[in-house]
Amino acid sequence: MQAEMMRIYRMLPKRGFASQTRPDFVKIVEVGPRDGLQNEPQNVPTPTKIEFINMLSQTGLSVIETTSFVSPKWVPQMGDASAVMKGITRAPGVSYPVLTPNYKGFEAALKAGAAEVAIFGAASESFTKKNINCSIDESLRRFEDVCEAAKEHNIKVRGYVSTVVGCPYEGTIEPRAVAHVAKKLHEMGCYEISLGDTIGVGTPKKFREMLEAVQEAVPLNQIAVHCHDTYGQALANIHASLQMGIRVVDSSVAGLGGCPYAAGASGNVATEDVVYMLHGMGYGTGIDLPALIKAGNFISGFLGRPSGSKVARALTSKL
Ligand code: HMG
Ligand code: MG
Repeated sequence: MQAEMMRIYRMLPKRGFASQTRPDFVKIVEVGPRDGLQNEPQNVPTPTKIEFINMLSQTGLSVIETTSFVSPKWVPQMGDASAVMKGITRAPGVSYPVLTPNYKGFEAALKAGAAEVAIFGAASESFTKKNINCSIDESLRRFEDVCEAAKEHNIKVRGYVSTVVGCPYEGTIEPRAVAHVAKKLHEMGCYEISLGDTIGVGTPKKFREMLEAVQEAVPLNQIAVHCHDTYGQALANIHASLQMGIRVVDSSVAGLGGCPYAAGASGNVATEDVVYMLHGMGYGTGIDLPALIKAGNFISGFLGRPSGSKVARALTSKL
């Protein structure tokens, strides 16, 4: 039995090399604790979140998006943001960014010890209004305040553009609208801009067209993709993005996730599935897949449902 388990373990795609400067290294931004838990109908206690994040910190991930400093009236699941930030054990070399929609959120994040924040806009007017209660132009003004304050405090800022191929309220989104917002975030000083297919409607063709427009405005080595898997297209879209040179992928362990202001948005692509695909294609991630599966199973167990990762479901009994 032991020999059989070892045989299967040896067949697993492993952590691979961890050098982030290699062209075949892909950085994974784990968004499970934030995107994953923000939409959960049940309350996840702060100590459970902390244990989950601490487990993720031991997997080789270099970025774990930890929580959001947003209004607790809008997203009650993130209402314990300060306690989570103060409670986690930060592993060396791991970054723990948090979402900050405005200066108020930035101030609170700073007080809680955040060293990196993320501002989050969208390419769609209606989604911006539903999600952060302002127009795109107004959101950009608020983000400028955050970026200026961040510069003063030596805090890194990541930017998001949501609804990059489709919007739950407006339908198809033009690639040039995505490029416009991405350019603004880049000019403000975001070191990386994550393009979110919030409702998972993209296909490889749509992703390629969108990325072609974005690369006119922002170099693709500063772009990440953030795919929700509502229509089962996420891995295909990530593959198409890799072919265009993208080397940063957001994902959520166990496929947790969804946006409370995007009806029908299901979870993010599962980190385990992305890592399995990347290792199988010869890319390095620095991530230990069995450790990642354990973290995903821990949170799925707490939530009382099977993991949303196909790879985790296939491999769990063999680990
Ligand atoms: P608002 O109601 O317009 O804000 O909301 P306001 O400035 O008028 O203030 C109203 C109240 O909120 C006041 O409190 C403020 O102090 C408070 P009151 O006087 O009523 O007690 N407030 C705050 N409290 C805590 N933290 C703050 C903050 N700001 C104001 N930062 C606001 C505007 C932006 C605050 C609100 O719309 C909000 O919190 N939205 C967050 C929505 C959200 O978190 N969505 C999910 C994340 S985005 C996502 O999931 C997509 C992504 O994954 C990519 C993809 O998939 O595409 C990133
Ligand atoms: Mg998302």
